[in-house]
Amino acid sequence: MLIKNALIIGEKESFEGDIRIEGERIHEIGPALHAKEGEKLIHAEGCLAVPGGVDVHTHFDMPCGEIRTSDDFYTGTRAAIAGGTTTIMDFSEPAKGASLQSGLDCWHEKAGGRSFCDYGFHMTLSRCDEQIEQEIVSMIAQGVTTFKAYTAYKGDLGVDDRELYRLLKLMKKYGTLLMVHCENGDILEERRKELGKEAPEKIINHALSRPNEVEHEAVSRVIDMASLVGAPVYIVHTSTRQALDEIRRAKQRGMSVFCETCPQYLLLTEKRYSLPGFEGAKYVCSPPLRTEEDRRRLWQGIREDVVDTISTDHCSFLFYGQKSQGREDFRKIPNGLPGVEHRLELLYSCGAASGLDYTKIARLTAGSPARIMGLYPKKGVIAPGSDADIVLLTRDCPKMITAASQMQAVDYTPYEGMEVSHCVRDVFLRGHQAVRAGKVLTKVPKGRYLPHRV
Ligand code: URP
Ligand code: ZN
Ligand code: ZN
Repeated sequence: MLIKNALIIGEKESFEGDIRIEGERIHEIGPALHAKEGEKLIHAEGCLAVPGGVDVHTHFDMPCGEIRTSDDFYTGTRAAIAGGTTTIMDFSEPAKGASLQSGLDCWHEKAGGRSFCDYGFHMTLSRCDEQIEQEIVSMIAQGVTTFKAYTAYKGDLGVDDRELYRLLKLMKKYGTLLMVHCENGDILEERRKELGKEAPEKIINHALSRPNEVEHEAVSRVIDMASLVGAPVYIVHTSTRQALDEIRRAKQRGMSVFCETCPQYLLLTEKRYSLPGFEGAKYVCSPPLRTEEDRRRLWQGIREDVVDTISTDHCSFLFYGQKSQGREDFRKIPNGLPGVEHRLELLYSCGAASGLDYTKIARLTAGSPARIMGLYPKKGVIAPGSDADIVLLTRDCPKMITAASQMQAVDYTPYEGMEVSHCVRDVFLRGHQAVRAGKVLTKVPKGRYLPHRV
């Protein structure tokens, strides 16, 4: 197959040219490649050819108390590929006290034969006991080399400092990577109690219970611990200017600290929590949306290469029936936002509008996450030998993001009404066309499990 006349977005530069795909891989890239006899041609004049998106932060089919996220692997990855994301990495979460193996088996069962994207798993570590080292070794053998710990949600998923320190030491020992959800769990729980007593019906209290300091303190502590141990660390969903500055300083000291942020922190602010009625519940996620100043500073962090990756933290709950369980009490609103479908279109559109180079957007949404997670150069780049995961984006027919037109199995989108100038036209997953003219072509998922080694 030959993709003709696209603006190809490479790692460092963009150039007009053609991409030849043979089997599942990119065979060659160049100007004016000649079509072979019988070769299928895809005309891409006016389109960008960007690397298939790599979203390394999703929560599909994730239990949350009595409910579970509304997108499972089938609906979530179908939405992802419709939006140009060809690889996802989801967090497998063993039940409380259960083995890592049970978590991994469970996630394989959820995803197997039901994923439209290629997929890998991180493993959530919510305990650090005698057995954990052997279990980590076993995960590595099965292609899981990225792990996640929470400093929040104590008594459930969260770990304390002693456990975190030990986990970081194990990461160092085995050359694996710890991703950390950084919020000071004790302080935010106290504030939730205080604010829940005062005015449980006020959604803004979600944000006030988890102010910037709560994230900053935890990021700073985790970075210090990682520095002490000499282990790299990946800070998920960075939302505040203070945390960003902390990460910048650590990088300047030469530490391997990776910074992830998400579209919601770049595009939305805490003002959403004061919308009339219960509308603000749509935006309840942790960490919460922040101020305009935080938003501005995160974009600056992107320009200055402090931010490494932009993934979604896609964690969808229905507005009617799930978010609504917190109508009387903000503490009962399930935390999380959908976004996997719109990440690429939003970022290429808003990024380009704010003067970012296309190559940088490609690095943030594909190349860097693939590198950090050990999937590069199979994933994350348009280059000979890489998987032919390619997205053609049009720039001449803007569209409006709406819940009515989305594929995500959720009854709203936080980006309702936003116009995107860069829209997904065609998507190829390992050379197979999955999306044509914006429509997913098949009902049969072709995604494969991706063991990875960081
Ligand atoms: O609110 C969020 N982000 N929910 C998903 C779980 C997490 O903390 O990443
Ligand atoms: Zn988190
Ligand atoms: Zn998450």
